[in-house]
Amino acid sequence: MTTASYFSARDGILHAEDIPLPELAERHGTPLYVYSRAALRAAWQAYADAIAGRDALVCYGVKANSNLAVLHEFQRLGAGFDIVSGGELARVLAAGASPKRVVFSGVGKQAWEIRQALAAGIKCFNVESAAELERLADIAQEMGVRAPVSLRVNPDVDAHTHPYISTGLKENKFGVDIHKAPALYRQARQHPALEIVGVDCHIGSQITEISPYLDALDKLLTLIEGLADEGITLRHLDLGGGLGIRYTDETPPHPADLLNPVFAALHQRGLHHLQVILEPGRSLVGNAGILLTRVEYLKRTEVRNFAIVDAAMNDLMRPALYEAWHGVVPVETRAQVAPETYDVVGPICESGDWLARERALAIEQGDLLAIQSAGAYGFSMASQYNSRPRAAEVLVDGQDAWLIRPRESIHDLFAQERVPHRDKVSS
Ligand code: LLP
Repeated sequence: MTTASYFSARDGILHAEDIPLPELAERHGTPLYVYSRAALRAAWQAYADAIAGRDALVCYGVKANSNLAVLHEFQRLGAGFDIVSGGELARVLAAGASPKRVVFSGVGKQAWEIRQALAAGIKCFNVESAAELERLADIAQEMGVRAPVSLRVNPDVDAHTHPYISTGLKENKFGVDIHKAPALYRQARQHPALEIVGVDCHIGSQITEISPYLDALDKLLTLIEGLADEGITLRHLDLGGGLGIRYTDETPPHPADLLNPVFAALHQRGLHHLQVILEPGRSLVGNAGILLTRVEYLKRTEVRNFAIVDAAMNDLMRPALYEAWHGVVPVETRAQVAPETYDVVGPICESGDWLARERALAIEQGDLLAIQSAGAYGFSMASQYNSRPRAAEVLVDGQDAWLIRPRESIHDLFAQERVPHRDKVSS
């Protein structure tokens, strides 16, 4: 599913579903995140179809886009949630999610976060180390409850993706070495405050082939069989998130391309009693959003042309951080303007502040541009760097548009800050 299907041009003007983007820019200003509700639903439906009739749970990876309206949409569609912080737990509960459908990942769970999740009664903790298992057991005991445990194992497979978003290799900080997992399960079994429920892995993000998943699956199934021989039975198998999307010319697998062989392997190995969990983030929201920005200036130098826009690395960090490629399209077609090659850059005082490089664009100062595939890891990674208020977010549904997060004000930038008491500083 590409951005194009829900953000398409009509009479030379790019629309979000049925709304012309210039209208949204007029109403809410720029930079502006615009999401398509139909695109969110279509992305969800692909997973829903792939798990139909199976014991499976799709837990949306909240970090990709954690706006309450997005969470609420997925909650209504029947999603579970994969969270990585107490903040994300509070968000999903505020969006109406049942804690029974929440799994908690992350290498550094703090004591207050564990307490909060135990009190809420979440589905399971994806435990990433021996030290975390011990902390979880202590806290559960102290609270007089049993903590549902799934070990996140590191299967040591190469997901063939950007090193910053590859997580299943031995050298990564994530998970427990798969060879050390049995010992840890034995330890967990001994503890009265722990209840073993599953096994988990997450090998990386923006994965565009199925084979790394199947390699990981094979290793996990062997682990599960070994545990069963010792009388340790698991109820679920969580393969994490990671399915890629099309940013440019990628051809990522469809959820069914991943899930069909998974179900087949479980069946073949007599493990069909296991519930299958996935934790997709990007593939549910990535192409459901664009970042709308306005060209402030066109600047020509001897070696380069720059389109300086009002969005920047603080709004969309992916190009600066991963050299990620996002499509850039002018919102209005200008037949009378000759295309030129531009670097699309923001106003921030860093050379790394670029959104796209060497793009042929027929544009003039004041034009609107849509930065495509910005629904995942866009707003959720945004900051206020250079004291820039964070962008507004809008959710479009046919001819309706909801402002799901107003633009931050200048006052918001420092409303929480305090100047030390003058007398004390000078004395
Ligand atoms: N589960 C776990 C444990 C994760 O760490 C992640 C993402 C997901 C699920 C969701 O993965 P997805 O389906 O979205 O690939 N900021 C980077 C991506 C970082 C992904 C971190 N973990 C980017 O903009 O490309």
